Amino acid sequence: MCGIIGYIGEEEAAPILLDGLSKLEYRGYDSAGVAVYSKDQGLNVVKAKGRLEVLSRLVDGGKSVHGTVGLGHTRWATHGQPSDINSHPHVSHSGKIAVVHNGIIENYVKLKQFLISKGVAFVSETDTEVVAQMLEYYYEGDILASVAKVLARIEGSYAFGIICSDCPNQLIAARKDSPLILGFGKDCNFLASDVTAILKHTRDVCYLADGDIAVLKQDQVTIYNVDLEPIEKPHSHVDWEISAAEKGGYEHFMFKEIMEQPKAVRDTVSPRIRDGKVVLDSVNLTADYVQNLKRLYIVACGSSYHVGIVAKYTIERLVRLPVEVALASEFRYCNPLVDENTLVVVVSQSGETADTRDAMREAKRLGARTLAVVNVVGSTIAKEADDVIYTWAGPEIAVATTKAYSAQLAVMDLLTLYLGDLKGTLPAPEYDAILGGLQKLPEQIEEILSRKEDIQYYASLYFNNQSVFFIGRNLDYAIGLEGSLKLKEISYVHSEAYAAGELKHGTISLIENGTLVVALATYGTLFDKLMSNVVEVKTRGASVLALTTDSRRVQLEKETANIRPVDHIISIPDAHEILLPSLAVVPLQLFSYYVALLRGCDIDKPRNLAKSVTVE
Ligand code: G6P
Repeated sequence: MCGIIGYIGEEEAAPILLDGLSKLEYRGYDSAGVAVYSKDQGLNVVKAKGRLEVLSRLVDGGKSVHGTVGLGHTRWATHGQPSDINSHPHVSHSGKIAVVHNGIIENYVKLKQFLISKGVAFVSETDTEVVAQMLEYYYEGDILASVAKVLARIEGSYAFGIICSDCPNQLIAARKDSPLILGFGKDCNFLASDVTAILKHTRDVCYLADGDIAVLKQDQVTIYNVDLEPIEKPHSHVDWEISAAEKGGYEHFMFKEIMEQPKAVRDTVSPRIRDGKVVLDSVNLTADYVQNLKRLYIVACGSSYHVGIVAKYTIERLVRLPVEVALASEFRYCNPLVDENTLVVVVSQSGETADTRDAMREAKRLGARTLAVVNVVGSTIAKEADDVIYTWAGPEIAVATTKAYSAQLAVMDLLTLYLGDLKGTLPAPEYDAILGGLQKLPEQIEEILSRKEDIQYYASLYFNNQSVFFIGRNLDYAIGLEGSLKLKEISYVHSEAYAAGELKHGTISLIENGTLVVALATYGTLFDKLMSNVVEVKTRGASVLALTTDSRRVQLEKETANIRPVDHIISIPDAHEILLPSLAVVPLQLFSYYVALLRGCDIDKPRNLAKSVTVE
């Protein structure tokens, strides 16, 4: 979490830094700050608790802070609550060195005690201030040497931007286990947590690796390894459109990204289907390997984990391979049963989630092959996995994922077909039916989006509910988990997803008059069983909003005319059963969005959350 940016060039730095930070706010948004150097004012640090606009007002959009070199930071608090003092940049006690940081210094207490014993006084509660103070403690006129000494002493994760007023013609960048890129502009250079922050200025970037240290001057960038030996690193060209990271007339990124799902799924699927077959260019699994696999693990966090649960149902059904779905934060510490006959699939939009990254490393250590499903090109997980399948969803800015989730589901469907084919478990007609269905998904999602007003109406009926339950069986249960997470994360309505058959073992006691139950009833095979559970909650006073397919809607409407087992029905186009989650999730995303809108929530930046979770 936290976003950092640095600029060195000929233009006024502050407006550039603020603009870059506005693209990084998804990484954290409880406070923000800049440090800009000018000959007249020296190192000018302005920082404030609150959203970026608070800082922006303080510095008059950047106009009141002068200088052509500087650093910026947007924070998601770890050590020390959000406050002006705890905001970054942090400065050393003489005010000479300023640091912005994304990550956690794990041994900061020990280092802080050491510095205090040497007479250094601290002003904040942060781990980052320790780094600023330590840089000065070791500083003997060569800031790079001091950086190298400090890096050797700190443990944990970091992406740093550092400026020293003794040598203001340079910025220093360093990374370990937190993302950091360099951008090469015309007469200027950048460091940033993410390309979106600098896309306006350059598409020529370099992804730093763990242990890299870079010195950025206006006209030159030198990258060093941990021993301060200069190294060469390849440049990459970013071909994302700038507009992809902007709202483009929509009120919220989340809504824009929901509407972009047909494109995200199409871009992810189409290039991977050739001559009626799934072709995964970046995956090198052989039929022998797949046939000898004993188990497949899917490891992820948050919504990416929910993708794993959907995939468990489909892979087990079609590939006949046992699938374990594990939360990355649990997998890391559970001594997992993983060996060379296990394929570990890690799913991550950002490719930087600390738990997922470290779970992947653990799987590798145990001898498993790792395959990553990642959206952000060049991210750590993408680089370290044995095989990568990119979701071509484009940049996703809203904290609550939508289009990346849908693209991940599509990749898992492609992977299911690919594995089923190699293992020989998928009869040709079923393979062809799913493949054909996958290609139809974008237009079917468009169809659902065109019915969004219906969902807005249901949101208007229920947005005041305090508690919502999502029930479903099998794939419907899996999609309920995501629907429930979406609702709680952006609208702060308590919600839970339950396997419908499990309700009667406890949760049904929470159902009372007016409790909203969203009944997910797309999965044909278990439709009747699910409807029995619906009747059970209806009998206890629940209001039931059913989500089913167009054809089952007709059946339900006939039934509801007499006995009213459900109050309202949302429907999605008919599709192959294993593809229904890709359609069913869309109304659930829209429902959450509209509920959050009616409740006046900050949809793109929900409280306490961040998009890229780079701490454990
Ligand atoms: C955060 C985001 C979620 C995301 C999860 C995992 O919690 O808000 O949308 O699903 O992290 O992130 P990843 O980048 O690994 O998919």
